[in-house]
Amino acid sequence: SDYDLVIRGGTVVTAADTVRADVGIRAGKIVAVADKIEGGAKVIDASGLLVMPGGIDSHVHLAQPAFGGPKMADGFETGTRSAIAGGNTTVLPFALQPRGASLRASVTDYHREADGQSYCDYGFHLIISDPSPSVLGQELPALVGDGYTSFKVFMTYDDLVLNDRQLLEVFDCARGCGALVMVHCEGYDSIKFMTERLEAAGKTAPYYHAVSRPQVVEREATHRAISHGELIDVPIMIVHVSGREPMEQIRWAQQKGLKVYGETCTQYISLTADDLKGLNMDETGGKYVCSPPPRDHASWEAIWEGIRGGVFQTFSSDHCPFFYEGSEGKLNPKARTSFKWVPNGIPGVEVRLPILWSKGVGEGRITPNEFVALTSTNHAKIYGLYPEKGSIGVGFDADIVLWDPNRKETIRQELMHHGSDYTPFEGIAVTGWPVMTILRGAVVAEEGRILGTKADGKFLKRGLSPYAVPTGRTYL
Ligand code: URP
Ligand code: ZN
Ligand code: ZN
Ligand code: ZN
Repeated sequence: SDYDLVIRGGTVVTAADTVRADVGIRAGKIVAVADKIEGGAKVIDASGLLVMPGGIDSHVHLAQPAFGGPKMADGFETGTRSAIAGGNTTVLPFALQPRGASLRASVTDYHREADGQSYCDYGFHLIISDPSPSVLGQELPALVGDGYTSFKVFMTYDDLVLNDRQLLEVFDCARGCGALVMVHCEGYDSIKFMTERLEAAGKTAPYYHAVSRPQVVEREATHRAISHGELIDVPIMIVHVSGREPMEQIRWAQQKGLKVYGETCTQYISLTADDLKGLNMDETGGKYVCSPPPRDHASWEAIWEGIRGGVFQTFSSDHCPFFYEGSEGKLNPKARTSFKWVPNGIPGVEVRLPILWSKGVGEGRITPNEFVALTSTNHAKIYGLYPEKGSIGVGFDADIVLWDPNRKETIRQELMHHGSDYTPFEGIAVTGWPVMTILRGAVVAEEGRILGTKADGKFLKRGLSPYAVPTGRTYL
């Protein structure tokens, strides 16, 4: 037969179009999209289903070291298993450079974690915690050339925070190598000040994590990052934006013609700071501790305003899973003494698509095409994976999710394939669910059953991002 696989009878949805079409696949690639495709060594009946590009989650944390805190609940095996069960075919986790370490050695360590352990394709962003002259001068340019074409920098966390001078140095390096910089915008000193005051007042429950870092702290850091990006003339991506205050900073920068991009995440349209109160200001609130913290219902609406208005290009999970129970969990003995010690991060790679579909498309806020742009196409374009990944058309990898827009489910831990012992999205009812995930032409997940293997995923050497090209308006 001409085709290894034909997906017949479905409705193909891309970022641009919605068309009734069959999809022909050969050797892992899409080779035909047409009204009627005959033949096929294998045929999948997709009638009644949407045929969309597999999800690309450009913000996940897998197998990151603990810095003396609890161990992350997902390595590549369970994290990518959860990803494919949730309709994703590519993830972009982080390779974190501990201070004092060589970045290249860190990247090698992460490859050791990922090789032969990934159910989906993957690339790495580089987290730069120690921008020494050798890192900026030699290691980074070489790594960008090897396909690690995006960096993340942090404006908070003891082990990761960069000062303003260091941010400028990394931005300048990124400009020189054509890399895209992702910035975690929360102000270190503000958070530390607030935390000390709260602790002194005995306010140590998980809820005070949210009080310690209000939106003004995120807004200030967002503005500072934007200003530094303008000074250097380097495009930046502001990640995990939680509400109106930082959203408006990004919109302002975009309206000035600066190349500032925005990412938001599942928790910022579905959780609130009240969740951190737990049942009665108790420790169950620890399940929701992440940074920035989820805000309130008005913030959900501000995030939708940013999504609809084009302020945000990507919608990610910021999957960063920990266990809840046990001495290695979120409520390890130290964490019970203060919110400060509760590890930041929540699992969510598996529920990103259903929650965005349900609240976005299902409730009439975005179109199916915008859904595809936000969950797949824009991630591929922004992070140098296009036109291999991110759409359905001749020449693209056959990374596909078959989507049932009418399927009702209630998110619950027993459905999840991640390593965590809980989901913070427990009880959220959704309409719209992935029924099959296809990675480069092979069915890897179907109806919650994992059919692929952890040898399936391949490392993606990424190209330079066209979004990282400077504006040319320089101060130097
Ligand atoms: O709380 C979170 N989001 N932890 C993950 C690390 C990060 O800053 O993205
Ligand atoms: Zn450089
Ligand atoms: Zn972050
Ligand atoms: Zn993150």
